[in-house]
Amino acid sequence: MSVVIVVGAQWGDEGKGKVVDLFTERAQVVVRYGGGANAGHTLVIDGKKLVTHLVPSGVCHPGTSCVLGDGMVIDPHTLLEEIAECQERGLLMRNELLIGLGAHVILPYHKLLDGLREDYSAKQGRAIGTTRRGIGPAYEAKAGRRGVRMRDLYKPERLRALVAANIDELSPVFAHLGGTVPTGDDVARWVADALTAGERLRPHTGDAGRHVANAIAKGQHVLFEGAQGCLLDLDHGTYPYVTSSSTIAAGACQSAGIGPTQIDAVVGITKAYATRVGEGPFPTELFGAEGDKLRIAGGEFGATTGRPRRCGWLDLPALRMGVRLSGMQSLALTKLDVLAGMPEVRVCVAYKLDGKELDEPPTDPEDIARAEPVYTSLPGWAKLPAHAHDVTDLPTAARAYVETIERMAGVPFCLVSVGPDRSETIRLTDPFA
Ligand code: IMP
Repeated sequence: MSVVIVVGAQWGDEGKGKVVDLFTERAQVVVRYGGGANAGHTLVIDGKKLVTHLVPSGVCHPGTSCVLGDGMVIDPHTLLEEIAECQERGLLMRNELLIGLGAHVILPYHKLLDGLREDYSAKQGRAIGTTRRGIGPAYEAKAGRRGVRMRDLYKPERLRALVAANIDELSPVFAHLGGTVPTGDDVARWVADALTAGERLRPHTGDAGRHVANAIAKGQHVLFEGAQGCLLDLDHGTYPYVTSSSTIAAGACQSAGIGPTQIDAVVGITKAYATRVGEGPFPTELFGAEGDKLRIAGGEFGATTGRPRRCGWLDLPALRMGVRLSGMQSLALTKLDVLAGMPEVRVCVAYKLDGKELDEPPTDPEDIARAEPVYTSLPGWAKLPAHAHDVTDLPTAARAYVETIERMAGVPFCLVSVGPDRSETIRLTDPFA
């Protein structure tokens, strides 16, 4: 196996950062393939925290090539800040970073528009709860063939014309949403800032697709890092409560411009419970003290926005859907330690809707919201041993929980994470083996 995709199996925040960091030990190239600074990956290495939004989570392995694929939407200022933060820690010092010239650029008006739309929609009770990072507006511009790409940052005249044309078209929208209509001075400032940022990023830009294809041709280990989760996929997720990119495994091929025949393995990441940020149906959500308990135990606050995440029991129908959408052959289970201390642990094994039992969520989000979760209850466990290296090191009840999920999801586990640090991991199989 040399080409592996790692993808979130549910609504994001499954702990991909830690898993990608571990798998990167064996990879020469790690590629982030979708989304932008809406993602937030928390890495804990030797007890120290590093949060990345754009740079792949493999960044902590000096010498490993870190690629930002053409399918991404990149905020150049956030990226520059992140590079500086990594370099303060001695990372990205060997020219490891490569940004695809075809990736789209998030400019200030995308973020303004994202915020205005959310505020406007909230008044009508139909906000999506986006991260307000400009993701939707940047992907809209891309699909409308009027987007700004990284390569445009090196053609000042073209950039000026593109931004001016976009603002011209968007001005009535700004006015309609109750925002301040951007002026010519705004446009000039945004263009100047983008050009400056582009110059600083220039040494890191290039043909990302070719770079990845060459690495694959040489037989190097290439790891694709998904952002968000399968149920937030634009085409197959719980639309409209989704992000604007292809979060499923297929997105990796699109972003890097490689064929599906190049992929050797797909690994899904699932948390031992479920979380969701923003609006949208979430049948196993826990409210009040129960939800708070899980949120606090799991530190479930957004790494990007700081928003409290909605928390609930593990949702097997949703997990099965993720497994199917991405063709996952194995799963990494994360945050098992967070459930310690619960007298009982529940798992949603099916949904009940209009008298029928469903093994996957229905396709209409209104039906998902109406569906009743069918639970099975398992005994809880007190505490996990500090250094569990095998499932046999786990308390009997925790082991039974792991085995139950594995059986009901129909996919074997390749890894079980029992704490945030690299060392707190039970490794079962190597996806590159
Ligand atoms: P956007 O991607 O900012 O447009 O947000 C659309 C939806 O995706 C919202 O519900 C966000 O909360 C959710 N979302 C976006 N990125 C992440 C992430 O990294 N983790 C979890 N949810 C996310």
